[in-house]
Amino acid sequence: MCGIVGYIGNKSVVDILVNGLSQLEYRGYDSAGVAVQTSSKIKVYKAEGKLENLSSVLMQHKSEFADSTMGIGHIRWATHGAPNVINAHPHTCNCGNLVIVHNGIIENYKELKVKLEAKGAKFRSQTDTEAVAHLIAYKYEETKDLTEAVRLATQELDGAYALCVMHNNEKNKLIATKRNAPLLVGVGEDEYYVASDVPAIIPYTKKAMYLNDNQIVELSRSEMKLFNSNGEPIPQKVEILPWEPVALSKMGYKHFMLKEIHEQPDVIRNILVGKLHSADSQITLDEVKLDKQTLKDLNRIQIIACGTSLHAAMIGKYIIENFCGIAVDVEASSEYIYRKTVTDKHTLVIGVSQSGETADTLTAIKQAKARGSHILIITNRPDSAMAREADSLVPVNAGIEVSVAATKSYIAQLVSFYLLALYMAEIKGSLDESVLKSLKSELTLVPQKIEQILSHKEDIQKCAQHYANTKDFIYVARGINFPTALEGALKLKEISYINATGYPAGELKHGPIAMLDESMPVLSILMKGSVYEKLLSNSEEAKARNARMIALTNSTSEKLKELFEFIIEVPDIQELLSPLIAMVPLQLIAYYIAEYLGKDVDQPRNLAKSVTVE
Ligand code: F6R
Repeated sequence: MCGIVGYIGNKSVVDILVNGLSQLEYRGYDSAGVAVQTSSKIKVYKAEGKLENLSSVLMQHKSEFADSTMGIGHIRWATHGAPNVINAHPHTCNCGNLVIVHNGIIENYKELKVKLEAKGAKFRSQTDTEAVAHLIAYKYEETKDLTEAVRLATQELDGAYALCVMHNNEKNKLIATKRNAPLLVGVGEDEYYVASDVPAIIPYTKKAMYLNDNQIVELSRSEMKLFNSNGEPIPQKVEILPWEPVALSKMGYKHFMLKEIHEQPDVIRNILVGKLHSADSQITLDEVKLDKQTLKDLNRIQIIACGTSLHAAMIGKYIIENFCGIAVDVEASSEYIYRKTVTDKHTLVIGVSQSGETADTLTAIKQAKARGSHILIITNRPDSAMAREADSLVPVNAGIEVSVAATKSYIAQLVSFYLLALYMAEIKGSLDESVLKSLKSELTLVPQKIEQILSHKEDIQKCAQHYANTKDFIYVARGINFPTALEGALKLKEISYINATGYPAGELKHGPIAMLDESMPVLSILMKGSVYEKLLSNSEEAKARNARMIALTNSTSEKLKELFEFIIEVPDIQELLSPLIAMVPLQLIAYYIAEYLGKDVDQPRNLAKSVTVE
């Protein structure tokens, strides 16, 4: 959470900082701020709330920084202290000479605060970051060297940080460093960019250097120097970023979420290219580095993830167990890391994460790695911290996802799980040839089927508007689509704030059925297959309690019309692949309800896309 940017060069800095922050708004939008070096001194501008509020503040002070070419900026997701102007970054030391922006959490800030106050520091905010500003300022007083001051100060910090620092006495110097939080430096002609993530720098340069933990970079207009934690110069590894700026445009859609839902057919086609050649040939998955014998002998897999990625993991469990007969445990990373988990070198541990930066999942995979497990990472960010921990890296290639609510990355994670499960099943010989063939051949048809759904999205919009004013919403399913119910409910609650819950339909009668009455919409994910009849009976039970029944189905049975007041039809598909189809209308329902209610679809309240705090 939180995003930081920095720039040193010859261009007008404020536009670059604000542009960069606008690309990082997915990381938080509680407040925003910038500090710029003006001809006289460093000036700080901040505003509570979204970036547009900061832009208004900046408009009023335009003349003060017209010639400024160096500065830092921040977009905040509040952890310590309320989201207000005082707690907004950049933070300064008492004399105002030093300014910093910070992403992460300083766990020992209270102890540091006591020590710093004893030395005379006066704290103005409730943030953990302010302690770092005072600490570096004291180190600078001692050393008169900003890079060294940052190095010494960070040795006293516990927790996670990405920092960018400037000082009034150093008019041609920007310092950045990180530990357990992402940070990269974009390299231009006599100019450097600092950012938490690629989108902030990609409009300006494709050349970049990722910082490793505890490295410190010193930037001037003409030069970049990199140091290790002992202050020794080390070689720099500048690479070419595999991203295009065009990916970040809404391309005419009202919201990024709607655009990203529409991208899903092409995302799937993209993943399948080079991996699934035809129904008759074997899946190619060179990304999996476990040798074939080890894969054959494997009898335990753990999958760890959070949120939407956790729901993809649950479907991953279902299909790996079904296709390969390997026992799979799935656990939320935040639970996995605080108990005595049984993991060893015989366990394959799969981490699933869109961002590859989620702190809980990152910690979980590091723990599993330390116990000797092979780490396979399924992520949309092959340049992320998690990717760097991977023994096997399976990029899902969904392209940058801007909307906070994950859509295309979820479908991409599912397709990656299908490929992985089929690949392992082929190696193990655990599936009948005919079943394998039919799964592979139908997988290639999924993009078309999703396009069919998108082509009649207006019907789904009507259904969404019909239920938009409900307080609660229940999604039910059984078997492979139970996680689809959870994901449908998550999508709705995160962007519309409606209290939505997913249940395995068979569990309704064990408690939740008590909530049903004529005001409660219940959406049954009624895909044909092994649990269809059972789910139909559960839907009857709900109808008998007067619930407002909606079906999402690939059945054309006329009987359904008696039971359901709304039927969302989807193209036919075999049960084992049905989560790929069933999810799309649920994404659209959530989208259209939130849009109808006038909610901030792409940036829902209290959320951030990259959750880099535990
Ligand atoms: C929901 C959503 C979150 C993320 C979760 C994990 O739409 O986006 O629930 O899925 O924060 O994030 P990643 O996948 O980046 O680890």
